[in-house]
Amino acid sequence: MANITYIEASGQSTTINLYEGWSLMQGATANGIDGILGECGGSCACATCHCYVDEARLADLSPATESELQMLDNVAAERRPNSRLACQIKSTAMLEGLVIHLPATQE
Ligand code: FES
Repeated sequence: MANITYIEASGQSTTINLYEGWSLMQGATANGIDGILGECGGSCACATCHCYVDEARLADLSPATESELQMLDNVAAERRPNSRLACQIKSTAMLEGLVIHLPATQE
């Protein structure tokens, strides 16, 4: 389990204790966080789970795969160096306390 904090573009902050192995996208959609859509169900095919990861914690995440990097070209909001797809980040104890910011739009 890891406590993950999602901060929506409105400033609304929600912290979820996310099961090990669940993706950050699954945690958001299961808990009614509007800033992540997850339209493809987590198969890295829609880019509607775009998030900005706290830059100080990027090294705690598995690096983005080539397919994730390609899909990040399709995000609706500005792509930044700390942009990731929330469906490709799995909860582990290493992520305890992680903060992600959600863009103003996903489509
Ligand atoms: S849920 Fe579709 S790319 Fe992440």
